[in-house]
Amino acid sequence: MTRRDLMKTGLSVPAAVLAADAAFEPQAEKGQGAPPVRPDPAGGRERLLLDFGWRFHLGHATDAAKDFDFRGNFSKTGGFGAVSTLAFDDSDWKSTDLPHDWAIELPFENDPALGNKGFYPLGRTYPATSVGWYRRIFELPASDAGKRINVEFDAAYREATVIFNGFYIGRHIGGYDPFSFDLTDFATPGGKNVLLVRVDATQSDGWFYEGAGIYRHVWLVKTNPVHVKKWGTFVRTEVRNGEATVKIRTEVENHGVVARNASVTATILDPAGKAVGRATVPLKDAPQPGEEFELQVAVKSPALWSLEERNLYTAVIEISANGAITDRDETRFGIRTCTFDAEKGFFLNGKSVKLKGTCNHQDHAAVGAALPDAVQYFRVRKLQEMGCNALRTSHNPPTPELLNAADELGMLVFDETRMMASNPEGLAQLENLVRRDRNHPSVFMWSLGNEEGTADTERGFLILNEMKAVTSKHDGSRLVSMAPNGGRNMGKVGYAAIDVQGYNYADPAADAFHKANPKVPVMGTEQVSAVATRGIYQMDPEHGYVGSYDPYTTTGRASCEGWWSFCNARPWLAGGFIWTGFDYRGEPSPYGWPNIGSQYGIIDMCGFPKDSFFYFQAWWRSTPMLHVFPHWNWSGLEGKEVAVWVYSNLDRVELFLNGQSLGAMDMKKDSHLAWNVKYAPGTIEARGFKDGKQVLTAKRETAGPAAKLVLSADRKEVSADGEDVAMFAVEVQDAQGRTVATADNEVTFRLSGEGRVMGVGNGDPTNHEPDTASSRKAFCGLCMAVVQASKTAGSITVEASSPGLAPASVTIASKAVKLRPQVAAWEREVPAGSGVTGLWRTGAAQIFTFRQDGSVLTGAVEGAGRGGDAPVAIQDGKVDGAKVSFTVGNMTYTGSLQGETIELRRSGGAPPRRETKWLADPALAIGPPPDGSDPSNGAFVGLSRGQQAPATLVLHRAKR
Ligand code: GAL
Repeated sequence: MTRRDLMKTGLSVPAAVLAADAAFEPQAEKGQGAPPVRPDPAGGRERLLLDFGWRFHLGHATDAAKDFDFRGNFSKTGGFGAVSTLAFDDSDWKSTDLPHDWAIELPFENDPALGNKGFYPLGRTYPATSVGWYRRIFELPASDAGKRINVEFDAAYREATVIFNGFYIGRHIGGYDPFSFDLTDFATPGGKNVLLVRVDATQSDGWFYEGAGIYRHVWLVKTNPVHVKKWGTFVRTEVRNGEATVKIRTEVENHGVVARNASVTATILDPAGKAVGRATVPLKDAPQPGEEFELQVAVKSPALWSLEERNLYTAVIEISANGAITDRDETRFGIRTCTFDAEKGFFLNGKSVKLKGTCNHQDHAAVGAALPDAVQYFRVRKLQEMGCNALRTSHNPPTPELLNAADELGMLVFDETRMMASNPEGLAQLENLVRRDRNHPSVFMWSLGNEEGTADTERGFLILNEMKAVTSKHDGSRLVSMAPNGGRNMGKVGYAAIDVQGYNYADPAADAFHKANPKVPVMGTEQVSAVATRGIYQMDPEHGYVGSYDPYTTTGRASCEGWWSFCNARPWLAGGFIWTGFDYRGEPSPYGWPNIGSQYGIIDMCGFPKDSFFYFQAWWRSTPMLHVFPHWNWSGLEGKEVAVWVYSNLDRVELFLNGQSLGAMDMKKDSHLAWNVKYAPGTIEARGFKDGKQVLTAKRETAGPAAKLVLSADRKEVSADGEDVAMFAVEVQDAQGRTVATADNEVTFRLSGEGRVMGVGNGDPTNHEPDTASSRKAFCGLCMAVVQASKTAGSITVEASSPGLAPASVTIASKAVKLRPQVAAWEREVPAGSGVTGLWRTGAAQIFTFRQDGSVLTGAVEGAGRGGDAPVAIQDGKVDGAKVSFTVGNMTYTGSLQGETIELRRSGGAPPRRETKWLADPALAIGPPPDGSDPSNGAFVGLSRGQQAPATLVLHRAKR
C-alpha cells in the first residue's frame, strides 16, 4: 500500500514507514550534541497578539436603534452596516485593550435575580448593559496576499458575532471555549481592515460570576497555504527504561498547493533548546488537506516534567515543499507519566502524589474575568504558597495562560469542559478543550462535568460515553472523571463511562463506595465548601460576614480539617479539590445582598490569605510554620473568653498572654490547637517547638489608632510590555508599626511613571465601591491596587495615602523587553495646519481629510462604501476666504467654512434610483409600453442619468 493509498482510505501514515533521521541518536549518545535546527525560516507563520488598540461601546439587547442598527444583517454577503465600515465615527467608543470585562465597570443592582452573577446588571432585564461592541482597525501588508489569515479568540463571554470588512464571518455561542475564523477571503492586504465583534451576555452559562466581553486574548495568525492545522500537533510520550518514546501526530492543511519533493519533519528540542532528535516523512508531493502524519523520536535520558522540575520540551514541525520551508510550528510538551491505582491513589512519574487541590473560578479583584497573564501566575504561586499542587478549572475550560503557568510553576490541572452534552455544541466544546490542552503536561485528567443529575442515568451513560470517545480520539493518554452531585450518586449507572470515580463533599459515601468497588480509583472532585471572611472572627449576618474559625459552614459540608484528616488517612483516596482556592464574585453565601461575592475561598479576591490558608500550609507543606489567630484588638471584651487557635506543623506549641504561659500542647497530625483565653489587651504569642527546641514564634498585638500606611509590591521589576502586572498591597499600621486588623481607612493610590492602576480591591465580600478605580477602603487592615506596566521602560511609583495617616510609596522597575509579536495599533492620522486642514465628518460614516496650503486644497474622502475601502482623492480643491470647493470623482462640492463646520452642496454624480413609472402607449388602454421604453435602453421617467438634485452636507471638525 502506498502513502497515497493510505491517504485515500483516510488512515494516517504509520510511524513504521517513516525515515528517521539517524544522524541524531549516535551524536546525542556520544555527547557531541545534535546539530542545530535549520536556520529559521519561520515558514511564513506569524502569530500576532491582537489585544491592543480596540474601541468599545455598549449596544442594546432589544433596541436596534441603540445597537448600531443590528437587526440580524445577514441578507447579503458584505455590507453589514455602517458600524462595520472604516469611516464609521467611533470617537465616542472607549479606547480599550484586551482582555476586557465590561461587567465589572457596571454599578451593582440590588436585584435578587442577579445574586449568582454578583449583582451586576446583565440579562434580559438589563438590555442596555448586556451587549458590547468591539472595533479594531488594522493594516495588513501587501505581502500578506496569498497567505491564510485567521483570527483566533481564546474566548469571549458570550455569543460573539464576528464581522470583518463589512462581511459577516460567524458566530460563537459558548462563553469559555476558544473559536477562530478564516478571514482570508475578506481581508485587504496592503490596506486597512475593520474587525467588529458584537458580544451578547444576555444569556448565561453558569451559576456564578462569568464576566462580559472579550475577556481573553485575540490573535491574528498568518500562514502559508500549506501549514500545520490549528492545534494539529499532538505529542504523546512513553517512558520505559530511562528512554522516552515521543510520538508526534500532526495534521496538515493545504489550500490548493501543488508541489514536489515535500516533507514533514519533527525536531525535538530539549528544555535548553538543543535539538535531541528528529524524524522526517519524505513525500513525493504536497500534503493533502487534512492529511495526518505520525512521527516517532526516541529521547534518551529524558528530563521528566514534575511538580519540582518543570522540564519542558518543544516539538518543532516543519513542512517543506519544493525545497522551501512552508511552515514551522512549535508545540511545547513535557515527558511524564500519570497513573491511578485503586489502592494507592495517584502517581506522577511512578511517585505517589496526593492531590492537594482547589477548585477555582476565574475572576480576580480589580480585573473581573479579564485576567492579565501575570495574574494567572500570581494566583498559581499564591496557591502553591499554601502547598496546593492541583487545581480544578471549575466549571469551564480555562484560559491557556493558566495552563502555561501550571506547566511552568508545577501545578496539576483537572481540566473541565462547560457543557456535559453529546449534542454538537457540547462535543465541539470538549473537542476544542482536548485539542487545545492535550500537550500541557500539567493537565492530568479531563473533567466531563459537574453535578449533572443526568449523569446518574442510562441516558447519562450514553452522553458521557460519547464525550469520552472525543477525549480518546483526540488524546487517549489521559483518564476522564467528573464531579457527581453529592456522594449518594457515586457509581450510579452513568458513571460507568468514566475512569476515576469523583465525589463532591460526601466523605462517608466515598468510604462506602471504595469498600464496594475496591478496584475503582477514587478522587475527591469538590470538598469542604466552608465559608469565612478574612480578618473577621464572629458571625455577623447584619454586615454579611462570617467568622474565620474552621468550620463556619452553612452547607453541612466538611471543615478544612475534617476533610483533610479524612483524606490523608486513606491511601486509596487520590486526594481532592477544595471549594475554593480564591473567593469569587457571585454565589454570595451564606447571605445575599449586600454580599456580592462568595466567601468560600481560602484566599480572598485579592490574594490575601484567610486563616485556613495556614492550616493547609501546615499540613500540605513540610516547611516549619506557626500561625496564631484571631487578631488581638477586642476592646470592650476585656475579661471575656476568646478562642485562640494555632496552626502549625511543629511538635508542640506554648501560648503566652502578655508573657504569662497559658500552657503548652502537643500538635496532633492534620489538626490544630485551641485555647480559651480571657481577653486582656497586649500580646498573644505562640512559641513553637521541634525536637524539644523552640524554633518559631508568632504573635498578635493590640494595636493603637491607625497612624500610617505600609505599602509593598509583589514584584521588584516588571516587563515594560503593556501587559505585565504587579500587586501593591497596603497594610494599615499604628504608630509603633503594629497591624491595625480592624482598620477600614479609605486609601488612594497615585501612580507616576510607566504604568497604570488597573483597579483596586480589599477582599470585602460586601464592598460596593467600583473595582475600576484608584481608591478603596481598607478591609480588616488591608487593601490592594493592581498595577499594569506600560510599553515604555522606566520605573513605576505608587503612592498610597489616606487622610490623617502617613502615606507610603514604593517604586519598582519596568524593564525594557522585546514585545511579543503583535498587530500594531492603528490611529487615523489627523493632519495639522491652518484653515480647513484637519479631519471632518458628516453624521454618516463618511470622513473628509483636508490639507490646505494657501488657496490650494488637497485631501481625500472615505466612507462611500464598505470597510476597507480605499480613500478617494479630492481634485481641483480651492479655498477662497471662507469658500471651499473641490470635486470627488464626478461629484462637485462647494460650500463655506463657518467656525468648526463646513456646509457643502454636492451636485452631479451617480444616477438616482430609477423610478418604475413607465411611459404607457397612449394608443392602448391595456398593453405593453411603447418601443424604446425598455429600461435597459434608458427610457424611463425621472431624473435623467448624470443628474442629481444638489444635496447639502454639514461637516464637523473631528478628532479621530
Ligand atoms: C457545589 C457546586 C459549586 C458551588 C458549591 C458551593 O455543589 O458544584 O459550583 O456552587 O456547591 O458550595
